[in-house]
Amino acid sequence: MTNIITLDGPSSSGKGTIAKELSKNLNFFHLESGLLYRTLAKFLIDKGIDEDEIDAETIASLDLSCLIDTNKRRLVSNKKIYTSEVSLTTSKIATLKVVRDFILSFQRSLGVRYNLIADGRDMGTVVFTDAKLKIYVDAPLAIRAERRYNQLKDIEKNVNLAQVFNDLANRDQRDSSRTIAPLVVPLGAVIIDTSIMSVEQSVTRILLEYKKDS
Ligand code: DC
Repeated sequence: MTNIITLDGPSSSGKGTIAKELSKNLNFFHLESGLLYRTLAKFLIDKGIDEDEIDAETIASLDLSCLIDTNKRRLVSNKKIYTSEVSLTTSKIATLKVVRDFILSFQRSLGVRYNLIADGRDMGTVVFTDAKLKIYVDAPLAIRAERRYNQLKDIEKNVNLAQVFNDLANRDQRDSSRTIAPLVVPLGAVIIDTSIMSVEQSVTRILLEYKKDS
């Protein structure tokens, strides 16, 4: 049996940074699930496939296992999947069952092979319901928007904070209200608010919780 810690939470809550630190500390594989959804969205954009044309066969032609970096114990990232265009498409296709089923089975296959730090929206609620420890990472929308704006400034021209705030608010709304795997606090999760806790404090707290249960 592998050990799994899940980190659910909204965009730019800081869960990715915390997950990265935890995976280094425990030497667990870092499953960044947003990266999988983004990679699939970029693949569909590049192929010119619209949302209503997506089917299981088309999706299956994307080999997600190419993204596994066994040495570094993480998924291979690409700057091009973090643009506003890809973010918007990702949040739309992530509502589709055919998309979620495809990514779900890939995620579970990783959970069979590796000890995981799994970060995303539905890691504790849907994908790894038996995880040893469940965390929900949160921060107020205004703080998350500012973080996202600072990331975007480096990869896009003409970004503006108000627009980023609105995009994030819409994305939150879509992620939380969708019928399949909505963003909610998993039952029994430890809640971490990154507007009052630093990354270091958050990691220390999570490690304490993990060791307490071991
Ligand atoms: O965490 P992120 O911002 O990179 O995620 C991008 C999008 O992917 C987000 O709008 C919702 C979707 N997503 C999801 O639906 N479920 C996940 N487990 C991870 C991401």
